[in-house]
Formats: sequence, structure tokens, C-alpha cells
Amino acid sequence: MKILAIQGSPRPEGHTQAVLDIVLDAAAQAGASTEVIQLSEYHDLSGCIECFACQQTPDAPGCVVEDDMQDVLHRLLGADVIVLATPVFCWSPSWYLKMMMDRCYCLFKFRGPNQVECLLEGKKLAAVISSGGPEGDGADLVIQTCSRLAEFSKTEWLGAFLAASVKDVESIRADGELIERARAFGRKLAS
Ligand SMILES: Cc1cc2nc3c(=O)[nH]c(=O)nc-3n(C[C@H](O)[C@H](O)[C@H](O)COP(=O)(O)O)c2cc1C
Repeated sequence: MKILAIQGSPRPEGHTQAVLDIVLDAAAQAGASTEVIQLSEYHDLSGCIECFACQQTPDAPGCVVEDDMQDVLHRLLGADVIVLATPVFCWSPSWYLKMMMDRCYCLFKFRGPNQVECLLEGKKLAAVISSGGPEGDGADLVIQTCSRLAEFSKTEWLGAFLAASVKDVESIRADGELIERARAFGRKLAS
């Protein structure tokens, strides 16, 4: 089982990564291979330009925007489980993660009216989210956004792990109840 996490926080050692570490550690102990892409460490990233050139390539991404997202798109295709990791920023995923989701447009192939296929079909999708406020302060909307991507891409939605109302990395690492839930989620991803 190959788990690929796409980390959308601008802080590679922030709250989201602290939670993701716990989840992936449990998944690795359960036998999965794990990998993290830190989107903030790429320097050449841009959004979908709506050229629709990708629709001319039926069985590969076919995106003509030659930036660092090309690497991400190809690594997505090699994963069994994709984990979308993000903080909640203004009731939304971070811009890094939203940009990545938009660029996944090229993985959808619109074959005809009401006929869409996705190159991610058959994979599993999950989310790891951290937020400063309680779930209703925007994390609920981020969970909906991620699960809607799963539905549209015909991937199996494994659910979201939310660390809400987080204060700092130290208190995440000292929260036994959160750690237990995060580890259980990691084992679920690996199963
Ligand atoms: C620009 C910005 C916008 C934010 N918006 C929200 C929000 O709408 N709802 C919320 O619960 N927390 C919000 N937060 C708090 C972050 O989601 C929270 O601190 C998160 O754990 C940061 O994770 P990170 O350290 O991985 O980036 C916001 C923080 C920033 C910097």
C-alpha cells in the first residue's frame, strides 16, 4: 500500500505536519509505504489556465503548464492512497492545496455529455486537516471540498482526520487522545 500525502501548509513543520506525522507513522507501522510532498518547497507552481489542452490526451495528464506540478501529477498516478493535508485558511483549503486540486482537472477526461472518467479512479482518498477554530469555523467546508473531489474522481473516500482548535505543535504532540485517534486513522489508511 503506497500512501502519498500532499502537504498544503506553507509551514513544513507546522500544525498540519505534526498531525500528519502521527497518522503516517501509524500507517507505516501497519505496513504501508509513506511519502510526503511539501507543496511549499516547490518554487514553480501555478494554477489551471483553462486551456483544456489536457482533453486532447486521453490516457495521461496531458497538462501543458510546464511547472513543478508535472512531478506531483505523475506521482499521484503512482499512489494507492492520496492524503490531502491542509490547514484551514479562510474557510478553505490553503492556496497550495486548492491550486493542486485545480491542476488535477487534467486527470479528468470529459468523453461526452455526462461522461467523465478520472485517471485516479480506483484509488483511495483521505484528508488530514488542522484548524485554529472548531470544526464549524471552516474545517467542515474543507472536509466537504475534499470528499466532493473523492466523489467526482470515483476514488474511495476514507474520511478526514481533523485536529480542531489547535494551538501549537507542542500541545498536538502532548495530546494523548488526539494521538490515539490520529494513529487509528493512520492504520485505517494502511488497511
Ligand atoms: C491566513 C489564515 C487563515 C486562517 N483561517 C482559518 C479559518 O477560517 N478557520 C480556522 O478554524 N482556522 C483558521 N486559521 C488557523 C489555521 O487553520 C491553524 O492555525 C492551522 O492549524 C495552521 O496549520 P499549519 O501550521 O500547518 O499551517 C487561519 C490561519 C491563517 C494564517
